[in-house]
Amino acid sequence: MIKTRQELIKKYLEFFKSKNHKEIPNASLIPENDSTVLFTTAGMHPLIPYLLGQKHPLGKRLVNVQKCIRTTDIEEVGDATHHTFFEMLGNWSLGDYFKQEAIEMSLEFFTKELKIPKEQISVTCFKGDSHIPKDTESEKIWKSLGINKIKSLGKKDNWWGPAGETGPCGPDTEMFINKIEIWNDVFMEYNKDSKGKYTKLKQQNVDTGMGVERTLAILQKKNDNYLTEIWQPIIQEIENLSGKKYSKNKKEIRIIADHIKAAVFILAEGIKPSNTEQGYVLRRLIRRAIRYGKLLEIKKQFTSEIAKPVFKIYPDYKELTQNKEFIQSELKKEEEKFDKTLEKGINKFNKMSKNKNISGKDGFLLFQSYGFPIEITQELAEEKNIKVDVKSYEQELKKHQELSRTAQKGKFKSGLADESEKTTRLHTAAHLLLTALKKVLKKNIEQKGSNINPERLRFDFNSNRKLTKEEIKKIEDEVNNIIKKAIPVIKEEMPLKQAYKQGAQGTFRAKYPKIVSVYTIGNFSKEICTGPHVKNTKEIGKFKIVKEQSSSAGVRRIKGIVE
Ligand code: SER
Repeated sequence: MIKTRQELIKKYLEFFKSKNHKEIPNASLIPENDSTVLFTTAGMHPLIPYLLGQKHPLGKRLVNVQKCIRTTDIEEVGDATHHTFFEMLGNWSLGDYFKQEAIEMSLEFFTKELKIPKEQISVTCFKGDSHIPKDTESEKIWKSLGINKIKSLGKKDNWWGPAGETGPCGPDTEMFINKIEIWNDVFMEYNKDSKGKYTKLKQQNVDTGMGVERTLAILQKKNDNYLTEIWQPIIQEIENLSGKKYSKNKKEIRIIADHIKAAVFILAEGIKPSNTEQGYVLRRLIRRAIRYGKLLEIKKQFTSEIAKPVFKIYPDYKELTQNKEFIQSELKKEEEKFDKTLEKGINKFNKMSKNKNISGKDGFLLFQSYGFPIEITQELAEEKNIKVDVKSYEQELKKHQELSRTAQKGKFKSGLADESEKTTRLHTAAHLLLTALKKVLKKNIEQKGSNINPERLRFDFNSNRKLTKEEIKKIEDEVNNIIKKAIPVIKEEMPLKQAYKQGAQGTFRAKYPKIVSVYTIGNFSKEICTGPHVKNTKEIGKFKIVKEQSSSAGVRRIKGIVE
């Protein structure tokens, strides 16, 4: 029986090498030639140019094991089979073999190498839709090879890619052992363009992906990936530090183990926790793990302790050992920082809870601004003999999730809520845009409406003429100058009256509540706004106006982006 991840990886690589595949390196977690995603999410990722037709120096048959990070499944982390960081085994045909040989090789590896009986194997194939025909060929091949448990499913299940917004993709056939999906053969013969249109690629490719964690668990007849050697040393460390048993605290322990492992691998790429892009994903992973650590009542700093077994589990990743000190010190720093907000959050809670129950809005504020999961708020409330309105908290949360889901279509499709990061930068840019418009046009400009998504901001203002090219340039410069000055963005809560007294700008007066948030950017801007905003203007990046047009009578519209 295969006992370790290294044995499984070796078996896979050797099998495909014996079928004339060349091994390619395990690439960086940060995609080199793809700005549309934050992390390498699949083994095919570094191969995109070759799937599109460029010649690969090692030929048309390739194989490797690839480290991957996926954050779109983050809500499922905590169950037995989903992980943020995982390893994927893959073999590729770049315009060489297609369905017949790919399926034959997959089945041979299963039955001959892994010794899995055919009866335990079931598969799914693509049932077709209005654009792409049903994949009857794969179905026929499986049947001819003696696999009869076949289901036909739609695009949601049996279509893979593109990895980012555009690129190679195609129908796939997924393989299940005892109902757990562990391998996926994708027949990449389509390209999706930015308009969402599918066209045939120059060549028919095969892209397969097999999850190391799941396969190892299946081979060891374990129904929980965390019971394998890929996770056990981390689990045991968490048990030691918390004095709690895995069997009784599965969700918390899984989340801590998953997030810290992923954080270690991201840190190993030289990324530090921050408020942008990969650094922001890293920050949330570490902080979420810390929150769960508190739930387990781990008293001391623990993240860097939990990193230790990760180094031992993956001795073959040199980037871990080489960056050990950096990884541990960054974990420590981040934990120290977050410990501070946790305390502030508790102070906030104490204020909120004076003689009253905690409303849904308060609960949500604690969650959003101080990173308090509702469970902590509830526990704190219990100690004071008061209640939390969990139902209305959930409604608040849902509202928020719907907003971020709407924003999901943006650039960072595979990144953990980074849409909101971009949106946040654009929100602050919109405030500076208002300031710049007033200054350049030398009149009382009023915001007539705005709409922000991760791709752009739309800003309407009172004016009845087109802006000149020079004016547009001046407005951009004005905004970028303030950005460069690195000015802190200060948020204060105050009664609406006081906000107006201080000269804060508002847009839709009638709709404001009695207490409002006011965002102040040095002497440049003071606006009543619900946010979110960056902490410092330098986080915005470069602002650019991409369009200026008429919106309605007396109203002009600007579309702007940040880079
Ligand atoms: N790209 C496919 C996947 O991620 C197969 O490797 O499942």
